[in-house]
Amino acid sequence: MRSSLVITICASITAMVVIIVVTMVVTLSTDTGGPVNYHRLLLHSIDNTSINHFLRNLTQKPHPSGSEGDKEVWGYVEEVWRQQGYDNVRRESYQVVISTLNSTNPNKVSTVRTNGTTNWSATTWQTSPDNNNTNTFIYNYNGFSATDTVQRSSVVYVNYGLEEDYEELKDTKINLSDSILIMRYGQNFRGDKVRSAERRGAAAVLLYSDPADVAPPTNNNTTTTYPDSVYAPPDAVQLGALRLQGDLRTPGYPAFEWAYHLAESEWDLPTIPVHPLSYQDASHILSLMKGAEAPPHWQGGLDLVYHLGPGLADGEEVRIETNNINNDITTLTNVMTMIEGSQEPDRYVVLGNHHDAWTYGGVDPSGATAALLEVSRALVSLYNNGWRPLRTVVLCAWGGEEQGILGSTEFTEHLGAVLGDRTVVYLNLDMIMSGTYSFDAKGVPHLHDAIFSAAKLVPNPDLAEVEAGNTTLYDTWVLRRPDNLQETDVEGAATTPLVGTLGTGSDFRPFFFNLGVPSLDMVFVPEQSEPSLPLYHTAYETYHLATTLMDPHLLYHQAAARMWAVLAYEFSSQTILPLNLQAFGSFLQAEWDRFFKEFRVELSRLQVTTDHLKEAVSKLRTATNTFHDNLQSVNTDDIQPLVARRYNDAMMLMDRCLLSPKGLQGRPLINHVVLAPKWSNEYVWEVFPGLRDLLQPTTTTTTTTTTTTTTFTNSDPDDTRKADQLRQQVAILTHHLNMSAAALTFTPW
Ligand SMILES: *[C@@H]1O[C@H](CO)[C@@H](O)[C@H](O)[C@H]1NC(C)=O
Ligand SMILES: *[C@@H]1O[C@H](CO)[C@@H](O)[C@H](O)[C@H]1NC(C)=O
Ligand SMILES: *[C@@H]1O[C@H](CO)[C@@H](O)[C@H](O)[C@H]1NC(C)=O
Ligand SMILES: *[C@@H]1O[C@H](CO)[C@@H](O)[C@H](O)[C@H]1NC(C)=O
Ligand SMILES: *[C@@H]1O[C@H](CO)[C@@H](O)[C@H](O)[C@H]1NC(C)=O
Ligand SMILES: *[C@@H]1O[C@H](CO)[C@@H](O)[C@H](O)[C@H]1NC(C)=O
Ligand SMILES: *[C@@H]1O[C@H](CO)[C@@H](O)[C@H](O)[C@H]1NC(C)=O
Ligand SMILES: *[C@@H]1O[C@H](CO)[C@@H](O)[C@H](O)[C@H]1NC(C)=O
Ligand SMILES: *[C@@H]1O[C@H](CO)[C@@H](O)[C@H](O)[C@H]1NC(C)=O
Ligand SMILES: *[C@@H]1O[C@H](CO)[C@@H](O)[C@H](O)[C@H]1NC(C)=O
Ligand SMILES: *[C@@H]1O[C@H](CO)[C@@H](O)[C@H](O)[C@H]1NC(C)=O
Repeated sequence: MRSSLVITICASITAMVVIIVVTMVVTLSTDTGGPVNYHRLLLHSIDNTSINHFLRNLTQKPHPSGSEGDKEVWGYVEEVWRQQGYDNVRRESYQVVISTLNSTNPNKVSTVRTNGTTNWSATTWQTSPDNNNTNTFIYNYNGFSATDTVQRSSVVYVNYGLEEDYEELKDTKINLSDSILIMRYGQNFRGDKVRSAERRGAAAVLLYSDPADVAPPTNNNTTTTYPDSVYAPPDAVQLGALRLQGDLRTPGYPAFEWAYHLAESEWDLPTIPVHPLSYQDASHILSLMKGAEAPPHWQGGLDLVYHLGPGLADGEEVRIETNNINNDITTLTNVMTMIEGSQEPDRYVVLGNHHDAWTYGGVDPSGATAALLEVSRALVSLYNNGWRPLRTVVLCAWGGEEQGILGSTEFTEHLGAVLGDRTVVYLNLDMIMSGTYSFDAKGVPHLHDAIFSAAKLVPNPDLAEVEAGNTTLYDTWVLRRPDNLQETDVEGAATTPLVGTLGTGSDFRPFFFNLGVPSLDMVFVPEQSEPSLPLYHTAYETYHLATTLMDPHLLYHQAAARMWAVLAYEFSSQTILPLNLQAFGSFLQAEWDRFFKEFRVELSRLQVTTDHLKEAVSKLRTATNTFHDNLQSVNTDDIQPLVARRYNDAMMLMDRCLLSPKGLQGRPLINHVVLAPKWSNEYVWEVFPGLRDLLQPTTTTTTTTTTTTTTFTNSDPDDTRKADQLRQQVAILTHHLNMSAAALTFTPW
């Protein structure tokens, strides 16, 4: 963006800024200097009516990756940015493989009699009532399911298909091999459900949304569903892809046309057919199932008794025909723009959201796309009021997120070394909300303080809470989602809110797990006992859902956009990056203690010593404390630019030292050695993944499933191999932690 920006700065803005001060930032610093005025201007500029306008346009049509609808959406983003005055809007396109369906040949699920006649078929599509175009059908499928036809009489209900569900099933001795497994959506990433099923030799998987999870009865024992409530109607089906790792043909490299492409036989794809069902359709199959009754906590919300299987009544069989086109090569486009940094144009504060949606994107992701457009608009007002960020603010609308985090992964592969060296923070917004109970942030420990500070500036979108005296977003957050593990105040209340862990469910994945960039994701969530966005990825995820049922005045949208804008402002404008390394050091120490407590016996049985590792953990912790103390003694107000740069670079390097160029054992596409997506649920992270992958037996691909208590003997080949692999992982981790500590002193020794 240049000064050629044509934006009207009217006196009214300034006048309004003065008026709104009462409702917000009362507790703000009394300092009337520059930064506070920019905070106020920024908070004031973010307007719910404007967000509404953007959202209305973005949610007109289904806009899945690669579709015409998606092209219109990213075209709209480009156009809005140009209108806002950005003169450097850029497209980056990649040739990727996506998984689609041909509507003349949809996926089919039916029950078939032994003589071959079809008795019943599941609905193949959804269409939502407030879509005026009656020709729009949304075909149900899971991206990257194998294309195959499977017919079996052996169908087994496995609850959510979690590792612990299979553990529970063990006693029944039901043979899962070559069976169709039917399981509920929820609790972990759908791709992990499928991988667990594959490991057990399943022939196919049916995923469905159970009413207990998506349409539970309300207090008066009735259930209202969309369009009257956020609950799922009987025919709602959650779509979704089964993999997350970037383009299939070019793992680790950008998907350009001239790239080297792996042969189709080498693509990392599910090997069995998988298909999603509505609860109406699932109930047909579940009601036919024989075998023992499922345990009480496996009984879902359908009006039937859930049986485990494996047989079906009346000799019927379930037939699944998937026709996924898994080699659909398509062009996906990321749209980006920026405001160039005045002092450090080579340091990037990256804000990202994806533009593609499985259906209308009412929540995922278009609410956040609307917020992105609003943030860009607000940054222009700041600019026109004289603000010049020190660092470059980069705004990204990613393509193909729903097909495996494609756009952001390809971009970080395309410019990997550059982005890895220069990106100071990655701020992601995917869906604004799954509820209105509390704010929820997920991010690395050294970002927590910056998130808390921002949340203390943002007015509370919950008006009842404002009336109760909780005027900021932070107040309600700490009240409703306190971090009970942290210190408490004199009255025993937690002093900080809970910040969650990053999995790989969105575009922060490559920035954090591959480039080591401190990353953040934000969302408003419902109470834990409440369903979380029951209409997620269904045809009912519409503008009506977002703006009538979930957020009638778009106040939560506004609050999320404000958080995003304040954080972008802080990271681009503060001389010293607002990272608290000490928090990372303490986190690491606490996690090590927890890990050691959990696995001490097993490590000692295997004769794996961790003394050096323990020392490295403590060394890094001490280094972060010392660094923090030194930084406290620096006067940041008149710090020399090169001195500031020295501190900032050291903080960035601390993270980058934790990346292994070789990737994790068995997971070459994940580089972070301290934090990685959990094997059994990629939605959350796991600490010390290289060690845990080996020590948590159910997550490995070896046949060992139980930890025996016998003593270690070199004659047990499994144990010998495991001990050896553990020693290697211990050494790798020790090395990276030591190097990370070294980053925090300025001279090499
Ligand atoms: C959305 O914006 C585009 C571009 O400005 C415009 O052509 C289109 O008519 C708008 N659609 C709606 C429904 O507002
Ligand atoms: C879809 O399938 C029909 C019938 O099998 C075929 O004629 C048509 O060419 C296919 N369309 C695409 C885009 O592949
Ligand atoms: C298959 O069996 C059903 C009832 O068992 C019967 O109604 C149907 O006519 C049979 N179809 C054929 C092709 O035999
Ligand atoms: C076959 O379908 C009919 C009608 O949908 C249903 O009444 C009947 O119970 C089904 N038969 C079996 C064995 O499921
Ligand atoms: C459907 O059409 C009606 C009447 O023209 C209009 O009020 C409504 O907003 C439209 N809904 C959508 C989703 O376009
Ligand atoms: C389980 O079923 C598979 C496929 O039918 C069969 O090959 C295998 O022998 C069975 N295993 C046991 C323990 O019965
Ligand atoms: C039950 O409660 C819901 C809201 O919780 C309300 O919309 C519905 O009208 C109530 N139904 C009856 C029959 O009272
Ligand atoms: C709710 O309704 C169902 C059937 O409609 C009934 O079986 C159940 O007892 C009711 N529960 C309560 C708490 O009223
Ligand atoms: C925040 O709201 C709660 C009720 O939700 C109330 O108990 C509490 O006192 C309020 N806190 C403040 C600081 O006013
Ligand atoms: C924006 O919020 C105000 C309250 O701050 C509300 O009156 C207005 O209706 C909201 N606008 C929209 C479009 O929801
Ligand atoms: C890591 O640092 C510790 C403590 O300084 C030292 O004992 C150990 O040898 C170092 N290990 C490596 C692999 O550099």
